[in-house]
Amino acid sequence: MTQAQEIRTAVFPVAGRGTRFLPATKASPKEMLPIVDKPLIQYAAEEALAAGARKLVFITGSSKRAIEDHFDSDAELETALEKQGKTDLLKALKEIVPAWASCIYIRQPSPLGLGHAVWCAKPVVGNEPFFVHLADDLIDGPTPCLRQMAAVYAERGGSILGVETVPRSETDKYGIVATDGREGRVSRVKQIVEKPRPQNAPSTLAVVGRYLLSPTIFAKLEQTGRGAGGEIQLTDAIADLLADEPVFAYEFEGKRYDCGSKLGYLQATVEYGLKHEALGEKFSEYLIGLAAKLK
Ligand code: G1P
Repeated sequence: MTQAQEIRTAVFPVAGRGTRFLPATKASPKEMLPIVDKPLIQYAAEEALAAGARKLVFITGSSKRAIEDHFDSDAELETALEKQGKTDLLKALKEIVPAWASCIYIRQPSPLGLGHAVWCAKPVVGNEPFFVHLADDLIDGPTPCLRQMAAVYAERGGSILGVETVPRSETDKYGIVATDGREGRVSRVKQIVEKPRPQNAPSTLAVVGRYLLSPTIFAKLEQTGRGAGGEIQLTDAIADLLADEPVFAYEFEGKRYDCGSKLGYLQATVEYGLKHEALGEKFSEYLIGLAAKLK
């Protein structure tokens, strides 16, 4: 058994422009789109913190200043809420990031792809395994997905990719893995390809936006040329890693919402709305009434 090692750093590539949500994302980052009352990037940070991360590294680009402001304290707003006696809201603001965690922002100088974004985190990650979290993929699980993956890592070591089965018609939206030696939810990755056409895909097991990576990935990324879409792909560096180190696919427990698509975003909004402590009941009544009208 591999010696368990804490995963202290989580990397959030947030430099993408979010063109699918234009014009909403013209001046505001797609990661700031709210699901009920929290932006996607806050769900992302909460998941990483729940998995033990205490260094949150955001790889940013142009028009992403709102993310920094979100995780920073706002003395003026806090004082105003305090004066108005809005203690619940004040508490919610103060809990966005606990004092023991640190937020680090690195600017990706040009949009060269996910692999390049991850490579930009190298100076702050160091020689340790780390998480990569893509905020577009919102996962609602009994245990936060990255925490599930950290538990697999403690058992198996190597690198871990969060995966789920997708319809064959959608393989060209994902990194697709071929695996063997399945034990429960874990299998060994033998091959990984970025966005293959359905007819060429080695399986329908897709990598979602959750990775626990060995630091060896940085050496691989340095040698990775441009791949699918002319970008430096994380998938291609993982494919190189396979020759040297074990990489596992982990079929996480929970439901994923593809919040990079409008339909997935709406589905997440509805389902998180239904689960919301203060709103759930009223919202459910509303939906039942609406469904009756639609019949
Ligand atoms: C990225 C990765 C892809 C992965 C996907 C998960 O693609 O390149 O391998 O399957 O995230 O959401 P993107 O969605 O950024 O095009």
